[in-house]
Amino acid sequence: MSNTAPAAAPAEAILEVNNIEVIYDHVILVLKGVSLSVPRGGITALLGANGAGKTTTLKAISNLLHAERGEVTKGSILFEGGEVQNLSPNDLVRRGCIQVMEGRHCFGHLSVEDNLLTGAFTRRDGQAAIRQDLDLVYTYFPRLKERRNSQAGYTSGGEQQMTAIGRALLSRPKMILLDEPSMGLAPQLVEEIFEIVKKLNEEQGVSFLLAEQNTNVALRYAKYGYILESGRVVLDGEAQALRENEDVKEFYLGVGGEGRRSFRNVKHYKRRKRWLS
Ligand SMILES: Nc1ncnc2c1ncn2[C@@H]1O[C@H](COP(=O)(O)OP(=O)(O)O)[C@@H](O)[C@H]1O
Ligand SMILES: [Mg+2]
Repeated sequence: MSNTAPAAAPAEAILEVNNIEVIYDHVILVLKGVSLSVPRGGITALLGANGAGKTTTLKAISNLLHAERGEVTKGSILFEGGEVQNLSPNDLVRRGCIQVMEGRHCFGHLSVEDNLLTGAFTRRDGQAAIRQDLDLVYTYFPRLKERRNSQAGYTSGGEQQMTAIGRALLSRPKMILLDEPSMGLAPQLVEEIFEIVKKLNEEQGVSFLLAEQNTNVALRYAKYGYILESGRVVLDGEAQALRENEDVKEFYLGVGGEGRRSFRNVKHYKRRKRWLS
């Protein structure tokens, strides 16, 4: 080992979102200039209350807004340095970026294994390679191996979330956009799923952009976080710093000081002022 190795270079971004605006139905302005970046090999959290614009941001990245009559009207999105606005969702999947949708969306009538295999539809490298990756998914999700012949519609919410992530893995992604994986799941299962995300990140090098309302759990697994309110990033920083930030504690972690009101009761203008001061 040489001791003259250069200092670590700043992490290269795998994903960059620059000042995007999104409008639904030609008139409803929902994202008002959102910028964020995810380093290669990172886990970055996109946080915010219901309706803040998290899903819209993920769908803008993966080009799924058209189905919702939504459109990116300003800004740019770069995956591995190349603009992706004009790619179809499938082209982006082929390039290595895939979204796991909120609400999981399994094919209820198909078996767990057939659901997983639908994730390989963009691949051209043959059955043997796909089979190998299926086995890899089962090593990360042993529960899915046990349930592989069950009809997905009859598995638990946690198993369906695992199936949705496993299916995304079958596309061999470099990056997964994961929308609210904790939604509707018991705390222990949420922990189990985030532990798997962490392992996939460390062992398979998959980068994650994680949209979550569950700030507490997201900031324990992410390295960096962005907080969205009404379509704008109001705060961003290292996960550790966000966890210690008084406003984040008060509004998003529910550990505010004595006599403080819950963030729902604090008038919006005051919150804005506090965030920006
Ligand atoms: N298809 C749509 N048409 C019009 N408005 C929408 C549509 N989808 C979402 N919105 C609005 O955009 C805002 C952000 O929604 P969303 O991105 O789903 O937030 P989050 O994922 O943070 O809960 C909300 O006010 C929501 O009502
Ligand atoms: Mg959402």
